[in-house]
Amino acid sequence: MHQPPIQNRRTFLSGMAALGLTSLAACGGGGDGVTMHAGVNFGGTGSPAPGVTGGGALRLPLMLSGNTLTVAAGNYDLGGGARAGAMLYNGAWPSPLIRINAGSTLDFSLHNQLTEPTNIHWHGLAAAAGMDGHPTEIIAPGTSRRYQFPINERAGTYWYHPHPHRATARQAYFGLAGMLIVDDGGDLLRGLPTGTRDIPLVLADKRVDNGSLVYRPNFQDIMSGWLGNMMTINGTAGPVTANVDAAVIRLRLLNASNARILNLALENGRTFWLIGTDGGLLASPVAVTSVLLAPGERVELLLDLRGDTGQRVRLISAEFFVTGSMMGAGMMGLAPAQGRAFNLVDFLVANVPAVSPGSIPAAFAPIARHDLASVVVNRVFELSEMGGMMTGLHRINGLVYEDRRIDFFVRRGDLERWQFINRGMEPHPMHVHGTQFQVLSRDGSAARRMATDFGWKDTVLVRTLESVEITLRFTVSANYVLHCHNLEHEDDGMMLNFNVV
Ligand code: C2O
Ligand code: CU
Ligand code: CU
Repeated sequence: MHQPPIQNRRTFLSGMAALGLTSLAACGGGGDGVTMHAGVNFGGTGSPAPGVTGGGALRLPLMLSGNTLTVAAGNYDLGGGARAGAMLYNGAWPSPLIRINAGSTLDFSLHNQLTEPTNIHWHGLAAAAGMDGHPTEIIAPGTSRRYQFPINERAGTYWYHPHPHRATARQAYFGLAGMLIVDDGGDLLRGLPTGTRDIPLVLADKRVDNGSLVYRPNFQDIMSGWLGNMMTINGTAGPVTANVDAAVIRLRLLNASNARILNLALENGRTFWLIGTDGGLLASPVAVTSVLLAPGERVELLLDLRGDTGQRVRLISAEFFVTGSMMGAGMMGLAPAQGRAFNLVDFLVANVPAVSPGSIPAAFAPIARHDLASVVVNRVFELSEMGGMMTGLHRINGLVYEDRRIDFFVRRGDLERWQFINRGMEPHPMHVHGTQFQVLSRDGSAARRMATDFGWKDTVLVRTLESVEITLRFTVSANYVLHCHNLEHEDDGMMLNFNVV
């Protein structure tokens, strides 16, 4: 699959954005020449984050039972022991996994026991009016709120996290970010792995100082987004190990990082199958050797481990290569922190062939493409950085987010075509609340789309100087937002309000 260049995020120096012309190409998937880092570290120093050791066993998130989510301060454990300072749902690090049936009603009460406001946004779901976790719909400390709306989405991998403006990044970072799986009971019929062969992986990089999580973004961090010095997989310092059957296994991956883009691959460039994106299954499995996963995005993958009895199969984030740098980060003495390779999960495949090892299905349900002739509204969103102030640097159409300003109105049911034009030197994963969209083109070309662009999406990576067109339609009337899912950019104001009426 064609992978156009991806931009290194750390190209911005205060007042010198124009010099940051480094561009990075997503590599083909960990082939020859990819430098692997054995430890958890991928920061600029080449040594592991002090006080943390990876290599533990993969932990799975607890499955949420009941319909209460209590948010409170608590402990996190990266694998080296419990430390105070997290914000947790129901005391759980990592956040609980929610499983809910398509066609049922989501119904949760959130109790805020923090000392600050919070709320919940149901990322990827078309929440009813007042239920979306819009930044104006916040829950004061010591109070509660009931979230209730029908799940009309396709089966797939969604997620939930807080959304109070200027606090989203910090609250998600300190532990409030969980996966939400919508099930439709059809996976056995589709020939897809279920049960222990269906593995949720929430990936998020963290910055650790003396074994403790830190979050104190400075100007540079607001420009690049907060990049960690270690990776966590379901809350544990990576890389982790997982025992799996010698069978076809399914991975559901969520990039819950504040800012880090991942380039998922298997070691040695081995092929795997992309089967799903933000809004559920593709029309059919697609053989790939790497998949970019920006913050907010999800993918579902199949790994065929039937012939790997007794072997180790390694999931990595592969290096992004610098391709056409004129005056790049290297010249300025900055390590390309965004593009480093690192290991995520070592799958230790059982010594015996599995019973009913499964196979790679030929096809799922077709995805009907939006009919362009039916587009009734075209909108353009220009993405830019550099406002000249210490905040409000990141803008959409020159605007910095204001919670009471409605930036545009959309008619429910209308097919719209939106174009995101990235005028700046930073990649922006653009996220739209309240619907799933289709990706029409990149840089005006349908052929430049990536494998993930062929599925339903709610978040799409718009790379440096790239433009991306999407088509979308809303079925629920509500006040929604559209924003960059680099959470530092979002909190900096790279977000607009729109009403579906
Ligand atoms: Cu995952 Cu508006 O966010
Ligand atoms: Cu969302
Ligand atoms: Cu951004």
